[in-house]
Amino acid sequence: MASITIRNLDEAAKQALRERAARNGRSMEEEARVLLGAAAGVAPVMDAGPTTLAAADYPARGKRVLLIISGGIAAYKSLDLIRRLRERGVGVRAVMTAAAQRFVTPLAVGAIAGGEVFTDLFDRAAEHDIGHIRLAREADLVVVAPATADLIARMAHGLADDLATAILLATARPVLVAPAMNPAMWRHPATRRNVATLERDGVRLVGPATGEMAESGEAGTGRMAEPLDIVAAVGALLGSAPGPLAGLSAVVTSGPTHEPIDPVRYIANRSSGRQGHAIAAALAAAGARVTLVAGPVTLADPAGVATVHVETARQMQAAVEAALPVDIAVMVAAVADWRTQAEAGQKIKKAAGEGPPVLALTENPDILRSVGHHARRPRLVIGFAAETEQLAAHARAKLKRKGADWIVANDVSPQTGIMGGTRNRVHLVTATGVEDWPEMDKHDVARALIARIASHFGRTVPEARPGA
Ligand SMILES: Cc1cc2nc3c(=O)[nH]c(=O)nc-3n(C[C@H](O)[C@H](O)[C@H](O)COP(=O)(O)O)c2cc1C
Repeated sequence: MASITIRNLDEAAKQALRERAARNGRSMEEEARVLLGAAAGVAPVMDAGPTTLAAADYPARGKRVLLIISGGIAAYKSLDLIRRLRERGVGVRAVMTAAAQRFVTPLAVGAIAGGEVFTDLFDRAAEHDIGHIRLAREADLVVVAPATADLIARMAHGLADDLATAILLATARPVLVAPAMNPAMWRHPATRRNVATLERDGVRLVGPATGEMAESGEAGTGRMAEPLDIVAAVGALLGSAPGPLAGLSAVVTSGPTHEPIDPVRYIANRSSGRQGHAIAAALAAAGARVTLVAGPVTLADPAGVATVHVETARQMQAAVEAALPVDIAVMVAAVADWRTQAEAGQKIKKAAGEGPPVLALTENPDILRSVGHHARRPRLVIGFAAETEQLAAHARAKLKRKGADWIVANDVSPQTGIMGGTRNRVHLVTATGVEDWPEMDKHDVARALIARIASHFGRTVPEARPGA
């Protein structure tokens, strides 16, 4: 078969091809082959799709993802995942199992992905040039989302009885799996064995998260990681450029703390950990080495981040201390100010005639303050302030008291929906003034903060300003 000689094309065609190839993260030869395949009607054009300004710093921009969708209830979320990847300049080609097509149609997936969806191992048009092998090769990363218990089992056993598993067996590319199933299926010893096998084989996992399942009344571990968490994991896996924070290390705290009253009761707060986890993921995606100290949350551990799970403020302080020295500390966790003076050894009983027990409280360690005044103080200490009134005044006072460089203040009054919600409206307080950032998704707040951190260290991230 004749090979493609780009040299022989006229200048205008060469330039157009060069631009297309750069936009789609392909070589010019690859781009030419994709276009010829499309013209011959045997392969879709897999464009990277429109790139938004906010996505300009996405580390996997210009890369190609082969997304395998299997037959779980979370399959509808794969549409959002495709959209999020494409708007970050990632080319997405989709493969669906037979069961996945019972949940979302190839038509919908193809419309969002901007190309043909592959469903059949024995497709004559695609297989005349061994289509499943080609699909396995023509991607930088294979993502399985959602990954059913069934598909995980077939992967673990090396089956290749449909297009999805044939690709997964044939690919030499990294594989990222986002499990999604009922908690009982996730807990089952067979699934535990299969997941352990995949991990031994070098497959990377994102999630599952803990929380409400689609089935009413069901809760536990098994929810698919949110599309933006999968996007972050893809970025962490595919980020080829060194990243603006390469060579720097960070510790991030996230979530609430639980302070025990007795063996079954505890003092807690409404923090979800969404903002802290998003910051840890964004720091890692920017190339920093990150330790995340997470209080009890239902979120998946961010990919590419060393996560330490703790419950109480004292455990959180010990874990932060163990992570030092680092260059950057971002203290996002809503650490309980107080704990009970003494945790009851047994469940406190209601006794007839006696009134309610009085809880004597004592102060918890002030983790931000101890980091801000530490002998091994990080070069940049950032604290979060959850306030319900006089935001800027309180944040400025906190900046001084805690020895922090910056305070990110957010209004957590119940009517804002910020605590526990997905969006945030923050004010960045530094020694020189207060910046009011517009309301954004917590992942966008994280990215804007990472751009500020990068410029603090003299490493700019273009076009990732708040509101960009
Ligand atoms: C309504 C419904 C929801 C389902 N949701 C899930 C799920 O979330 N996770 C899962 O592992 N299996 C789920 N299943 C079972 C899978 O669809 C089934 O195991 C199927 O064989 C998976 O095929 P696949 O792995 O080839 O996509 C569900 C089945 C039904 C009928």
